[in-house]
Amino acid sequence: MNRIISPSLLSANFSRLTEDIRLVENLGVERLHLDIMDGHFVPNLTFGPFIIKNIREVTKLHLETHLMIKNPHKYIEDYVKAGSDTIIIHQEASINIKKDLELIRSFNILSGIAINPDTDEDKILPYLEYLDYILIMSVFPGFGGQKFIASTLNKMRKLVRLTKDSDITIAVDGGVNLSTINDIYNTGIDITIVGSALYGADNINSRYTKLLNA
Ligand code: DX5
Ligand code: ZN
Repeated sequence: MNRIISPSLLSANFSRLTEDIRLVENLGVERLHLDIMDGHFVPNLTFGPFIIKNIREVTKLHLETHLMIKNPHKYIEDYVKAGSDTIIIHQEASINIKKDLELIRSFNILSGIAINPDTDEDKILPYLEYLDYILIMSVFPGFGGQKFIASTLNKMRKLVRLTKDSDITIAVDGGVNLSTINDIYNTGIDITIVGSALYGADNINSRYTKLLNA
């Protein structure tokens, strides 16, 4: 069973970003999850490549960039240049999924796809050979701190089974906390993204330990 937690910076304090990055580096995490929202694909706005470039300058952690943006092909190169190690596009937002995934890989970084809670997992099966990473959304993207949608656990189990002979990493994003993480671990997925349940804790060290050992 894999227990890898990727903190989502969405719940960090952007006026003291370096400190909030050090906080999770000191926990021993190996990666950071960066949520990019465009106000079109999702009803919220966050940050762009400019901030990622600054993040890249202060950390060596693996940066997974979750693009919740329309027409991702227009911006992929910018997010590569900013320093992303994995770029995740949305199945629902891409006009040409194969082309976008190939473009990401052409820069020698890892390619990922995210699927919303109401998107059937079969929609990504034609692209497995172009994929390094699958992000299963367990909330509708746009905001941190939402309630975990339990029906997505079936999707996790199914995708773990369908990719068991490949090198594809499976991750889950949204509503992961002490009450939901056990069911998630039991599906066999590789990575859990945690935002508010980590950064919102009074004591981040003990919360991290509890999440890892749930
Ligand atoms: C939601 C984002 C998530 C978010 C998760 O649109 O993609 O990465 O930060 O936040 P929590 O863990 O608070 O649900
Ligand atoms: Zn995300």
